[in-house]
Amino acid sequence: MPKPTIVTLPGDGIGRTVLDEALRVLGAAGFEANYVESAIGWEFWRTRGYPLPQHTLDLIAEHKIALFGAITSKPKDDAFAELAPELKEKDLVYSSPIVGLRQHFDLDICLRPCRSYKGNPLNFIRRNAEGGVDEPEVDVAIFRQNTEGLYGGVEWSNPPAQVHDALMTHTKFRQNFSHTAVGELSISTRIFTRQATERILRAAFDHARHHGYSSVTLCEKPNVIRETSGMMYKLAQQIQISEYPDIELWNTNIDAQMMWLTKNPENYGVIVAGNMFGDIVSDGFAGLIGGLGFAASAQYNSDTGIGVFEPTHGSAPKYAEYPVSIVNPIAMIEAACMMLDFIDEQTISSRIRDAIAIVIAEGKVQTYDMQRLPGKVDVVDRGAASTKQMADAIITRL
Ligand code: NAI
Ligand code: MG
Repeated sequence: MPKPTIVTLPGDGIGRTVLDEALRVLGAAGFEANYVESAIGWEFWRTRGYPLPQHTLDLIAEHKIALFGAITSKPKDDAFAELAPELKEKDLVYSSPIVGLRQHFDLDICLRPCRSYKGNPLNFIRRNAEGGVDEPEVDVAIFRQNTEGLYGGVEWSNPPAQVHDALMTHTKFRQNFSHTAVGELSISTRIFTRQATERILRAAFDHARHHGYSSVTLCEKPNVIRETSGMMYKLAQQIQISEYPDIELWNTNIDAQMMWLTKNPENYGVIVAGNMFGDIVSDGFAGLIGGLGFAASAQYNSDTGIGVFEPTHGSAPKYAEYPVSIVNPIAMIEAACMMLDFIDEQTISSRIRDAIAIVIAEGKVQTYDMQRLPGKVDVVDRGAASTKQMADAIITRL
């Protein structure tokens, strides 16, 4: 087989550090690829006025697979303030290059697995009836619709007259908002299309079937958000009955799900949700398995085969300046494993996950987050592993 070409996007801050370590682990596990690095993120925005260069888009279009570190992102006004002086007259508006990537390549499926490793001191534990503690084994795959809904970007402050007129045709709007001056309205839409909703639902059911999960839980709010969540629930029922009778469909509301998150997380298998609720519920489950040092995600389009794989954490700028990096590289290494799964290199991804599992179970090498130390520069002196030492330990186990 010819070597695949992988586009690497280190981005900002610790993005580069963790990506470099993940590439070392991939190499040590015997994965052979050509890597082409490309730019994305804050530095590009500051100096060029855009955070997502065309060159990066071209490379991803050509090679289809990208490994992404993390970027720095700031609110609109701060973003403008940090622009290079010569760019300030150009009327540039910052927008997230991650959202940009999703929309450009229609990466409508986001998968965030949350699996606990035995022996991870950050695993969620729960008091049981006998007064002892249980450590439930969490193994959840969250499918989040990635391009629509509240993150679709269709929003206004001081909406134009046509938009206001259109809204005035809705009884509820007339009742509740017609007395507010247009200039005092901010509106963010939550648009779901039938096509994208069916795609995320099928991706979830498919994953359940092929990975031995017995249920798919739809986590929305159809009793209140009747149109979008309601459509999703109806479609989920139809798809389950006609295509996946072997998989159970459960339905929970996002708010209740978060309240009960810690009650029985071991009972959930695949979870599927729209964009915002998927974001929330996946962060919630990630907290049960160790948080940002462990959580990874895949964003892909199953028709084009384009996929971008990344840790969930951001660029943690403060940590990027430490002389010895202390952040946990496991989330990025997990992202690399998801990439391997995506390109049918499951033998290698399993080997890497096994090596991570052994290192965690042994408990001798733990980054500062695993030791619950404050993330100060002295944590390595206090017994925590550095980023590199953690990657080395995994490589040794390989
Ligand atoms: P962050 O995820 O960068 O860091 C938050 C805190 O989590 C850190 O201070 C650290 O205590 C911990 N943490 C993060 N990664 C860790 C790791 N690998 N190991 C151990 N601990 C880790 O989020 P924050 O501070 O809210 O944002 C920093 C920048 O990153 C912002 O500009 C934000 O917009 C951006 N961001 C980018 C994301 C991405 O590229 N996908 C996602 C989230 C935030
Ligand atoms: Mg999130």
